Amino acid sequence: MKRNVKLSPSVLSADFTKLGEEIKKVEPLSDYIHLDVMDGHFVPNITYGLIIGEAIKRVTNVPIDTHLMIENPEMFVDDFCEISDIVSVHYESTRHLNRMINRIKDHDKKAFVAINPHTIVELIKDVIMDIDGVLVMSVNPGFGGQKFIPNTLNKIRSLDEMRKELGLTFEIEIDGGINEETFKSVIKAGADIIVTGNYAFSAEDPLEALRKIKEFVPD
Ligand code: DX5
Ligand code: ZN
Repeated sequence: MKRNVKLSPSVLSADFTKLGEEIKKVEPLSDYIHLDVMDGHFVPNITYGLIIGEAIKRVTNVPIDTHLMIENPEMFVDDFCEISDIVSVHYESTRHLNRMINRIKDHDKKAFVAINPHTIVELIKDVIMDIDGVLVMSVNPGFGGQKFIPNTLNKIRSLDEMRKELGLTFEIEIDGGINEETFKSVIKAGADIIVTGNYAFSAEDPLEALRKIKEFVPD
């Protein structure tokens, strides 16, 4: 049976002067819209917050996949749960990961833990049975359009093995540097949700770019 790979285009690379139109372009093949929230502390960049997320919610029915790249996620996690289906909190951003996971689940939203490229997957083993997914960063978080870090493939494989061994069903989301050269290898390694910023929004035909990923069947 064909594996259902989900797509989550990141509006970080969209043209903000016409965000609604940009979202409409990718909507037919988008399982989620990825919202990269950056605070200038956890990462060296500032993007957007809740008001943009609320605006996106007004123009589309595609569920929002929020990626919090912020210090003190405990201050904002409840607000983002209101507009999102998935909320990812970085392992590196909180001392109380379990509390964050529980808060997201209390809202009946999918709790994902995001890990930076330097964070080994073993560090989240003690929460893995409580979460709905792991967001694996394949670039250093902060900017769109960066180059994919090849070692990420081993992390996806390790997580895939971990879920098989433990009989779990958490999803593996891959974020950063996904393009025509890299999407096949991440799908083969076991990724279920593919984030695409630059690849989707800088394409002449964003929908066609997404279709290439959606139609790929790993052997
Ligand atoms: C980077 C963000 C990514 C980014 C991906 O910190 O988390 O979601 O938008 O962009 P591309 O696909 O261009 O690497
Ligand atoms: Zn992201």
